[in-house]
Amino acid sequence: MTIYEMEGGRRLEGELSAQGAKNAALPLLSAALLSREVSVLEHCPDIDDVNVQAQILETLGCRVTREGERLTIDAAGAEGFEVPRALMGRMRSSVMVLGALLGRHGRGVIHSPGGCAIGARPIDFHLKAFSDMGVRIDWQQDELTATLDAARDSDVALPFPSVGATENVLLLAAAIPCVTVLRGAAREPEIVDLAHMLCEMGAAVEGAGGDVITVRGTKELHGVQHRALSDRIAAATDLCAAAITGGSLTLCDVNTRHMGSALELLRHAGCAVLSTQDTVWLSAPKRLSGFGVVRTMPYPGFPTDLQAPFLALAAAAQSGSVFIESMFENRFHHVEQLRKMGADIEVQNRVALVRGTNLTGARVQTADLRGGAALMLAGLAAQGVTTVCDAGHIARGYERLAQRWNSLGAAIRVSTGEDLPT
Ligand code: EPZ
Repeated sequence: MTIYEMEGGRRLEGELSAQGAKNAALPLLSAALLSREVSVLEHCPDIDDVNVQAQILETLGCRVTREGERLTIDAAGAEGFEVPRALMGRMRSSVMVLGALLGRHGRGVIHSPGGCAIGARPIDFHLKAFSDMGVRIDWQQDELTATLDAARDSDVALPFPSVGATENVLLLAAAIPCVTVLRGAAREPEIVDLAHMLCEMGAAVEGAGGDVITVRGTKELHGVQHRALSDRIAAATDLCAAAITGGSLTLCDVNTRHMGSALELLRHAGCAVLSTQDTVWLSAPKRLSGFGVVRTMPYPGFPTDLQAPFLALAAAAQSGSVFIESMFENRFHHVEQLRKMGADIEVQNRVALVRGTNLTGARVQTADLRGGAALMLAGLAAQGVTTVCDAGHIARGYERLAQRWNSLGAAIRVSTGEDLPT
């Protein structure tokens, strides 16, 4: 198990470049499966979830090689259509392979997807959309077989702007010689990035970024070279590290248009934040003010993936904040751990009332990816030493987080746990 031991109270300052977006790279890897040619994906972060998705492609017959942040996918031999149960369970985005398998082979076999324990995370929206496209769905215990006998023009409506369901529909629609209209689509930048790649491969995708997307697909999708977006969630988490320590950060290679709500909140808490299209400069006050009321929403609202990191900032602030988690029903696991550090937080259902206070180092346990980042942030500000028992969650989505923050002045020691006092 990975353990991060960190000494708090150190001001972070310096310059970083944003990592590639986990939640863009994952569907882009699935899209590479749609062509029998070679695709090259740049700016793919070297993180566990992306590497597991690459393993899934390999079990399906792709040859995937990594050189730094470049992944080369040769999908010529990808004749497999069943994702192994063990790999399915490793993360949520394994379900996104189903749309690509249907697009490539007209069939796919998956098992219940894994992912952060932040709620039930059903896949009913995905399956309803596929059945509206003519896909037959058969469940046998936890094994799901999807079959597309005859592709047809479809008009599909999502009951909620689900990111994954939107991406799954686009992956199938791009690979069938039909017109698919998707209404109620999610509008996240990662979906626009996927649409760009599908267009580069030969599909016609219009309206991505809005709530109605029209796709004219084709059986003849070709290999491409595509650069993944920068990770807006990891970038905002880096800014939080400077903000919670009264520090300053220059963050390069970001797409600031995708970070509006996070930058606005950091300004509200007292940070000076300047930005151009691809760079953010942040300078934090000695102590942050509270955020007022923060409600997580589908894009372009405040992202649910930043709820935990910003809640950690609120816990160390000099005034109060209220967080309303409207996207997932169980995404406050980090609160109990922050309380071990002295945080004053009350949770009622999807609402967390946070009174800012001084935090003290403690031994804490992560339960999910973004909650783990929140505990690391709290450890940066806490008085004394914090030990974050990670169980690998943080490495799923953040590329060399300890190394990045140590380059800014943090004192984080990474170990496997055997050599640390219990
Ligand atoms: C994606 O998950 C992201 N993951 C999540 O990031 C992110 O939190 C989420 O979108 C919301 O932005 C990836 O892109 C790999 P949803 P996804 O479908 O697609 C419910 C991270 O930390 N729902 O938009 O699973 C669902 O339970 C991760 O990087 C159904 O009920 O999210 C949730 O309450 C965590 N039925 C809401 O919709 C369905 O079929 C939004 O889920 C699908 C979703």
